[in-house]
Amino acid sequence: AAAPTPTRLGARLQRAHAIADLRRQAARRLPKAVFDFIDGGAEDERTLRDNVEAFDDWMLMPRVGIDVATRDLSRSILGYRASLPIMMAPTGLAGFFWPDGEVAGAQAAARAGIPYCLSTNSVGSIEHVAEGAPEGERWFQLYFLRDREWMQALLRRAAAARYRVLCLTVDLAVQGRRERDLRNAFTMPLKPRLSTALDLARRPGWLAGAARSRLGFGNFQAGGFQAGGAAAGHGFTSVAQHVASLFDPSASWDDIARIRDAWRGPMALKGLLHPADAARAVALGIEAVIVSNHGGRQLDDVPAAIHALPGVAEAVAGRAEVILDGGVRRGTDVIKALALGATACSLGRPLLWGLSAGGTAGVSRAIEIVRGELDNAMTLLGTPTLEAITPDHLRPRRGGW
Ligand code: FNR
Repeated sequence: AAAPTPTRLGARLQRAHAIADLRRQAARRLPKAVFDFIDGGAEDERTLRDNVEAFDDWMLMPRVGIDVATRDLSRSILGYRASLPIMMAPTGLAGFFWPDGEVAGAQAAARAGIPYCLSTNSVGSIEHVAEGAPEGERWFQLYFLRDREWMQALLRRAAAARYRVLCLTVDLAVQGRRERDLRNAFTMPLKPRLSTALDLARRPGWLAGAARSRLGFGNFQAGGFQAGGAAAGHGFTSVAQHVASLFDPSASWDDIARIRDAWRGPMALKGLLHPADAARAVALGIEAVIVSNHGGRQLDDVPAAIHALPGVAEAVAGRAEVILDGGVRRGTDVIKALALGATACSLGRPLLWGLSAGGTAGVSRAIEIVRGELDNAMTLLGTPTLEAITPDHLRPRRGGW
């Protein structure tokens, strides 16, 4: 099959009615190794599965006799009035999934009126993405780097390019053991192996895009960075190598406090599950905690994000915003997260499947699907506003009611 024309692509995206449909379309377009990098998690992928399945532990309890003729799905997220209580999670390598994928994602988020968070490990640089999607609400996600000067430079660059919120991710001291990536020998760019060549022959659309793209870790490519081949973008780099050579596993709460002091705008801390860690973040003056296990990609066998949420929300007690990250696949999942104390949800793979299936239009389609599901569920639940959603709208699936 040749690369689809825009109209054929649009028609295909219109045939996706659930996030699972976009996942199937992404699986058809992407090389297996690339699809697995997005789709997979650490070791036995128990947390990855649990993130999604744990939403089943709650059922929705609708109320009747409520005027639901008009609904308001908007929500303030760290002072930005988002059209929906969702944001685009930071994800590395988006430009490897679709040409200029970071800009494509940021444009779709801007059009939909939801925050876009750019990863440290993006293909397009901080400045490139800001130029490509100047309108939207932009966050920048930072990792602790061994080279603290480079890290400070990233902060300065993000502020200069008018990223409003800093999202510091703290659950990646080293990379989790992602066995799909090890078995596929996943690198950027892909290593020329026979199995890859056979696979690529069936993915002309992806191949044409990748051939046009300037691949590498865009935020590490400006002059002066002395961290070896991975950073310079030469050769075949696995993400695990990139992380091992550049990221700093020694970072402590003192370092987090220093970043807090160095960043003038609002700040979110991403990747915590324990209520005491959330309380500590609040004590540092961090405005949002993102309850997350990195989409099941780091330590396996940790709690599902939705299971960790109530404890964190209780510890934070309204002193910061709480964002639920991981496993959201439906509008009803968003409702459950809000009922359990989340301000908003952050979506990773659902939007990446949309991106991989159709670039900006694919991300827009994914957001549209979630919007449609959320609106429908709010109507039927008897909650015309997000503020109307309460814990009383949930019941445990098994027992207790
Ligand atoms: C991620 N995630 C991530 N997080 C982060 O802080 N910085 C990053 O660079 C990345 N990169 C990344 C790449 C890919 C391909 C995925 C799937 C995820 C984690 C991401 O922000 C988020 O926590 C999870 O994706 C949430 O889980 P769901 O929504 O994918 O189930």
